[in-house]
Amino acid sequence: MIKLGVLGVGDLTDKMIRGLSRKGSGAIQFLLSPRNEVKAAALAKDPGCTVMSSNQDVVDGADVVLVGVRPAHLAELAQHVSLKPFQPLVSVVAGVSTKDLSRLFGDRDYSRVMLSCAAEINRSTVAVYPANSKAAQLFAPLGNVVNLETEREFELGMIAACMNGWFYFLVHELQQWLTEKGMPLESARALVFSSVEDCVAYARYKSSTPIDVLGQSIATPGTYTAGGRDVLIEHDGYAAWRAACDHVFNQLVCDKR
Ligand SMILES: NC(=O)c1ccc[n+]([C@@H]2O[C@H](COP(=O)([O-])OP(=O)(O)OC[C@H]3O[C@@H](n4cnc5c(N)ncnc54)[C@H](OP(=O)(O)O)[C@@H]3O)[C@@H](O)[C@H]2O)c1
Repeated sequence: MIKLGVLGVGDLTDKMIRGLSRKGSGAIQFLLSPRNEVKAAALAKDPGCTVMSSNQDVVDGADVVLVGVRPAHLAELAQHVSLKPFQPLVSVVAGVSTKDLSRLFGDRDYSRVMLSCAAEINRSTVAVYPANSKAAQLFAPLGNVVNLETEREFELGMIAACMNGWFYFLVHELQQWLTEKGMPLESARALVFSSVEDCVAYARYKSSTPIDVLGQSIATPGTYTAGGRDVLIEHDGYAAWRAACDHVFNQLVCDKR
């Protein structure tokens, strides 16, 4: 059994712990920071979770430490805990490199992992750097592991994590359009989500076919789909998505140079 110490019991780590508890059948013992009393107490209803009396107790009892605080809280956290020599640290903190982590927590084995809220139901993307690191083994039960070879790839993976959030708003817009035209909400929600699921399932099935080729096979000249795509292009619909990606990437990487 692995003892996983959690510093930063928040929205994301809560979902990770719930997902791991569901799939892990007791393989991980979670030692929780007491800082977020309400979340920690709710998790501690599961016998696999123990709320420790301090962050240092979390670290002292853990085989591996998972850091899940917000980036702005990381330096303060690092000042107040001393990790054990060689104790591995896994970070979900967005935009903080392994170099920055080692400046804060010393020389040790670092992994970074990026997930979505679907970790709670074991259906998250689990982007991992370094590839095949400790995090990949530990968090594989949370969904689809994507091993990333370089830290730059991992930062790009962060943009994919943002896309996950943006998709909710896109789906909402499309659902709204249908309801404004008179469709009941439940049907609109079912149709839009199901269309997205169709697309993902078929593209996975046709894994060797480029995605745009699959799109072109549907949006053939003269079809309604092709007509709508022309309007999306005319209104810079795709360019707006690329601009959003550039914006976040510049914030994550370029601003730090
Ligand atoms: N939520 C997501 O879907 C998501 C996705 C990808 C990445 N992330 C990354 O995950 C990290 C956490 O995000 P989140 O949305 O889960 O944030 P969150 O809900 O605010 O959770 C962070 C938790 O850390 C606690 N904390 C702060 N300082 C601490 C300290 N010194 N010792 C122990 N605990 C401390 C906070 O307590 P207080 O509230 O008392 O400050 C809070 O409970 C971020 O770095 C973010 O970049 C999140």
